[in-house]
Amino acid sequence: MDTWRVVKKRTADPGGGAVHVSSDGTRYMRTSGASLAAEAAFQRQLAALGYPVPRVLDDGTTDDGDVFVVEESLGERSLHDMALESLDGARDLPDTVVDLAAEVGGRLLRAQAAHAVPADLQALRSWVREAGWTDNVFAENPDLDTPRVRAALDRAVARLAGVPMVPGHLDYGLPNVLPVGVIDWQHRGLVPLGYDTALALEIIPFKGGTKGYRAGPEQRRRYLEALNEVARATAGQPLSQHLGPYLLVKAVFFLALMKPTDPARTDKRLKWHYRRHLLTEVLEQYERTGAVDPARFPTLDSFAARRDSAAHS
Ligand SMILES: Nc1ncnc2c1ncn2[C@@H]1O[C@H](COP(=O)(O)OP(=O)(O)O)[C@@H](O)[C@H]1O
Ligand SMILES: [Mg+2]
Repeated sequence: MDTWRVVKKRTADPGGGAVHVSSDGTRYMRTSGASLAAEAAFQRQLAALGYPVPRVLDDGTTDDGDVFVVEESLGERSLHDMALESLDGARDLPDTVVDLAAEVGGRLLRAQAAHAVPADLQALRSWVREAGWTDNVFAENPDLDTPRVRAALDRAVARLAGVPMVPGHLDYGLPNVLPVGVIDWQHRGLVPLGYDTALALEIIPFKGGTKGYRAGPEQRRRYLEALNEVARATAGQPLSQHLGPYLLVKAVFFLALMKPTDPARTDKRLKWHYRRHLLTEVLEQYERTGAVDPARFPTLDSFAARRDSAAHS
């Protein structure tokens, strides 16, 4: 019999799911979670399609009626963990982590491009809704459900017409990337090619600078160029020209589930308002130029300081 240690409660799982690791560290188990069985089925499919994902080893129902899924470990540290460990006063990511990200991202992108389906506007609109969690975001922030925001999202969809759609991750970023593959397929769905991989370094500033590392301009350029090459070779088109629309949808996603239910949690309120502010900034940049540069975002600290001084003047 295995003994399992809880790694963490699963974020964004209304079913109260958790992730566990086996005592020898070779396997991970996820429990509960309304859509866990579907997640495992999807992951099995992806593995069969040649995606770099953990193999599903076992799944079923516990005596308590919880769903469980066991998968192989892809290693001890994500690229996010590696970035944190190598911080030594320097803020830029180590180049080795950037290269690893480009390598794994390229492998995922290649597998995705091999299973592309033609785009249609309906599929792109579904992607905006699923990837952007727009139902939740507009419910929690009704003041942002405006013709202006809707028009920007429509413009993003129109700009992406003709980009092939592929089975995607929706929560792609360094914490879910390990040197041999990509974990955590809780959110998933059809995405325009490159939506997952192209943004891995672009989204770091959404964390507010509190993670301690950043990607420098040259690192971002190099990473994107590596992915562009894969996209050109597989789909016949680069993907860096889609960053604007992709980041607009991401900015909506990063606002999902942020509104605190407990008004006394001022820390959570601050983060919620920060993400609201970032969406506004992204919207302005996108409307003005069609592009978005996350390096221009304020950090969480500078945003908080600005709000404080505004409140006290
Ligand atoms: N197959 C795996 N191989 C290696 N580490 C894993 C694996 N599955 C989960 N982990 C570890 O457990 C953590 C939480 O799992 P994850 O599914 O990403 O949960 P969450 O949905 O909360 O982000 C990951 O960040 C990673 O450290
Ligand atoms: Mg994760």
